[in-house]
Amino acid sequence: MQKEIQKQIFQEIKGYYKDNTTRVAETELPFPANVYFEPEHMEREKRLMEKYPVIVGHSSQIKESGDFLSHTLLGIPIMVVRQKDGSVKAFLNICSHRGARLCTENTGNSRRFVCPYHAWTYSLDGRLRGVPKLGFPNYDPADGNLTELQVEERHGLIWVQVDPANPIDVALHLGEIDDEIASYDISNCEVHSIKILEADINWKSVLDGFLEPYHFATLHADSIAPYFHGTYSPFEGFGINSRMIGVRKSFDKILESDFNEVDLLKHVAVNYQIFPNTILVWQGDHFECWTAYPGETPGKCKVLFQMLIPKAQYNESTMARWERNWTVIEETVFDEDWEMSHQVQGNLSHIPNETVVFGANEPALQHFHAHMKELIENMN
Ligand code: FES
Ligand SMILES: [Fe+2]
Repeated sequence: MQKEIQKQIFQEIKGYYKDNTTRVAETELPFPANVYFEPEHMEREKRLMEKYPVIVGHSSQIKESGDFLSHTLLGIPIMVVRQKDGSVKAFLNICSHRGARLCTENTGNSRRFVCPYHAWTYSLDGRLRGVPKLGFPNYDPADGNLTELQVEERHGLIWVQVDPANPIDVALHLGEIDDEIASYDISNCEVHSIKILEADINWKSVLDGFLEPYHFATLHADSIAPYFHGTYSPFEGFGINSRMIGVRKSFDKILESDFNEVDLLKHVAVNYQIFPNTILVWQGDHFECWTAYPGETPGKCKVLFQMLIPKAQYNESTMARWERNWTVIEETVFDEDWEMSHQVQGNLSHIPNETVVFGANEPALQHFHAHMKELIENMN
């Protein structure tokens, strides 16, 4: 994060300490609860997601020519392949003959892709390399090339946009926060872990968990509440993306310090909400990237989790720290946040007035949900 922005945030947090407050929206926002459980709504969300660049993996997963990754997180089988010239291409992972899945492994390396059904073969760039004359005398192999999807690498992450109507442009999509995210040099981070997780909660609940610290003192009383304030949080919307700051209790010690003498980023968590489905969190010394995808029903989701460590911090002596982080995630996110969200998921269809309420002290939640709603309503 650029120094001048850090300085503003430092001052803002100090102001909230002084007035014992946090960044607030104008007022609370009552919101229809059915966005969490209606199948038709989820289908609209999926269609909306197709219009945006969505993170599907990390560049380091496919370093060498022929390296590929494949999954169905977007609800369709996709494969992303490193090309001979170092670029990446993404395809539907569907054979043109009769629809078998070409890549059956999640990651790997291949010189070409041979279909496991009848052995039609494709080059790395998705071209069908010919069909036997016997059986297909009039078939033009050019008709059988794989369906290409728009893909871009930016900030060390791989983004795919399913809808071909507009060209993919991640910088444009990130808008004002593109420079800010670039300042962390994430493409040079080491990948500690990449996992695909499943949870019996709505995909938006994964994001919700990172968009307000209001629940820390109660839900996380015994886990992270001793380390984080549940208030004093700056928030800023940048178009459909946003940034919310979680303030560590260690900030108490720098409250009276001169900005130039402190390293603000050690005393905060920075939560970037990247529309539609990612939360990128600066955790004080490393990144977590959570990308949540709708599952088969509104009460299920899949999550691409990445733990990314700045190169200078990644060595033998720090390894135990990153392992501990994973334990903290298990104890707070899985056992507390997701456990609560799972319980909430079952209750939402019975909630009074069929309405949840996002507080004025939860401006990041208001921002995310209001934009989702508006875009879904205006979608053709
Ligand atoms: S389905 Fe792929 S070769 Fe037949
Ligand atoms: Fe939480």
